[in-house]
Amino acid sequence: MAMTDNVDQTNRLGAKLVWYIFVFWDFLVLTLFSIKVYFIEFFKLFFPPPPKSLKGERILITGSGNGIGREVCLQLAQSGATLIGWDIDEAANNELLQDLTDLGAKAYVYVVDISDRSTVEATAAKVKKDVGNVTIVINNAAIMPAHSFLGHNPRELERVFQINVFGQFWILREFLPSMLKNNKGHIVTVCSAAGIIGTRNMVPYVGTKHAVHGYLEALKDELRHMPEKPRINFTTVYPCSVNTALTGGVNCFTKFPSLLPVLEPEYVARELIDAMRRNYEYIYLPKLVKLCGVYGKSLPMEVQRAATDFLQVYVEPIQ
Ligand SMILES: NC(=O)c1ccc[n+]([C@@H]2O[C@H](COP(=O)([O-])OP(=O)(O)OC[C@H]3O[C@@H](n4cnc5c(N)ncnc54)[C@H](O)[C@@H]3O)[C@@H](O)[C@H]2O)c1
Repeated sequence: MAMTDNVDQTNRLGAKLVWYIFVFWDFLVLTLFSIKVYFIEFFKLFFPPPPKSLKGERILITGSGNGIGREVCLQLAQSGATLIGWDIDEAANNELLQDLTDLGAKAYVYVVDISDRSTVEATAAKVKKDVGNVTIVINNAAIMPAHSFLGHNPRELERVFQINVFGQFWILREFLPSMLKNNKGHIVTVCSAAGIIGTRNMVPYVGTKHAVHGYLEALKDELRHMPEKPRINFTTVYPCSVNTALTGGVNCFTKFPSLLPVLEPEYVARELIDAMRRNYEYIYLPKLVKLCGVYGKSLPMEVQRAATDFLQVYVEPIQ
C-alpha cells in the first residue's frame, strides 16, 4: 500500500514537472515572439510595407454619398477597383456616380438603408448579380445624434444602434462568407475616437462606436481560431473630429486645436486608403488619439478624467 502511494506521488510530481516545463517553454516562445513583433513594428516605422494594388477588387463603401465615404470613393476612382456605393441619400449617391463616371471609374450605386436587414439582403443579392462577390467592405455609414442622454427619445436610441452597429452586422453576414470561401478579403471600418473614449452629449453614439471596436476584436479572434486562419485583413480607423455634415449640429471643443485639429474628409480618406493598402490594422487620426485613448487607459481613472478636463475635449449641440 505504502509502495503504491509512493509511486502515485512520484507520478504526480513527474506530471507537475512536465507541466512546468511546458508552461516555461510556452512563456519563452511568447517572449521571443513579442520581441520579434516589437522589432518588426519598429522597422515598419522607417520602412512601411509597400501598398497593395487594388486592381480588380470589388469595394463596397457604405455612406458613399457624403463626407468621408464620398471622398474615399473619389480617391479610389483611378485605383482599378470596381466601386459599389451604398447610401440612403439617393441624390448624393447619384451625384457621386456622375463624378466617378467622369473620372473613368467603374462604379455602381444603390439606395440602401443599412439598418434594414431585408433591404441589405436584397441589395447584396443584386450586387452579387450585377458585380460579383465583394472583396473589400468599407463600413463607414453612421449617424451621430448629440444631446444629453435623457434628451434622446427611445426611437433615436434604437436608430443609432440599428445603423451604426446592426447595419454592419447585416453587411458582414452578406459578404464575409464569400471572403472566407475564397480565403481573401479585407474589412475596413470607420470607427471613431469615440470608440475608445467617452464624452458627454454623445452617450448612444459612443456606445455604438465602443460596440464596433469590441465586435471587431471578437470577430478577429474568432477568425484567428478557425482551423485554417483565413487571409482576411482588418483595418479600423479612429478619427477625432472631421469637417462633415455629421458634426454639423454640434460644436466640437478642444483647448489645443493644433494638437487635435478638425480634420478634412479628404485627409481622412487618404489615410484610410493608405492604411488599407498597407494592411495596417489600426490608424488613429490624429496620432494623439492613440496616446490618449490607448496608452492613456493605463493611467488611474481619476488621472484620465483630470487629463480629459485639462484637454477639454467635448461636443455640445448647437441650440
Ligand atoms: N465627422 C466626424 O467628426 C467623425 C469623427 C469620427 C468618426 N467619424 C465616422 O466617420 C464615418 C463617416 O461619417 P461622416 O463624417 O463622413 O458623416 P456624413 O454624415 O458626412 O456621411 C455619412 C453618410 O452615411 C449615410 N447614411 C446615414 N445613415 C444611413 C443608413 N441608414 N443607410 C445608409 N447610409 C446611411 C449618409 O447619408 C451619409 O452619406 C462614420 O462612421 C462616423 O461615425 C466621423
